[in-house]
Amino acid sequence: MSLHTPLIAGNWKMNKTATEGVELAQAVAAAVGIESAVQVVLCPPFTALAAAVAAVEGTHLSIGAQNMHDKTNGAFTGEVSAAMLRDLHVTYVILGHSERRSLFGEDDAFINRKVNAALAASLKPILCVGELLAEREAGTTNAVVKRQLELGLAGVPAAKAEQVIIAYEPVWAIGTGKTATPAMAQEVHAFIRSLLVAQFGAETAARVRILYGGSMKPDNADALLAEHDIDGGLIGGAALEAKGFVDLVRSAARSLSR
Ligand code: PGA
Repeated sequence: MSLHTPLIAGNWKMNKTATEGVELAQAVAAAVGIESAVQVVLCPPFTALAAAVAAVEGTHLSIGAQNMHDKTNGAFTGEVSAAMLRDLHVTYVILGHSERRSLFGEDDAFINRKVNAALAASLKPILCVGELLAEREAGTTNAVVKRQLELGLAGVPAAKAEQVIIAYEPVWAIGTGKTATPAMAQEVHAFIRSLLVAQFGAETAARVRILYGGSMKPDNADALLAEHDIDGGLIGGAALEAKGFVDLVRSAARSLSR
């Protein structure tokens, strides 16, 4: 764990109605809403964003979206813009999640436009990168991560780089119960840090948070978060009920005192 505030984000994916989301957000807020040592971000579906923002008002919790379009407005049926998210007081947005890449055909150039559009609107992008199982087995993990990171961050000015959060999510670990070992994850995180150093300089790169994602659970979080370049987690399955998610936030808080 590095010196900056760790970040634990819950990616609810296509789960929770607004009503269910309020219940979950309130339960998380009741348990860790005044925890200021860890930045906690809940990312509900679009339809639950406004209700979630209201539910966490007055706490340290922040709300993020799971996607957005790069254009400011126009004929893009079914899409939402950065300004629409900002207007709801959403402050983070997950971009380039592997499900967006594989199921909805998003490529690095499109994701890059979204990253820059998010930053221009003062939203903090959580840019997801990670290799497929076949790519890991072929020994191309670093090449894949390098491509996704460099293309994803193209045009991002160094002055805004600290607003960006990177999530390393090996695709074979997402929702599968298989986690990268702490050493495996640390190796890729350190590689990502070196790419950030090359693009933004050492001081800025040290301040960018790099989250691990992929079957992070209360029973493996302590070991992952103990690694030097793992600054938090992007949590899917374990973010859907308050207890497990709160345990992960506590894990991140503990990692600071080690
Ligand atoms: P998981 O999902 O924790 O269920 O593996 C992580 C993610 O997709 O962000």
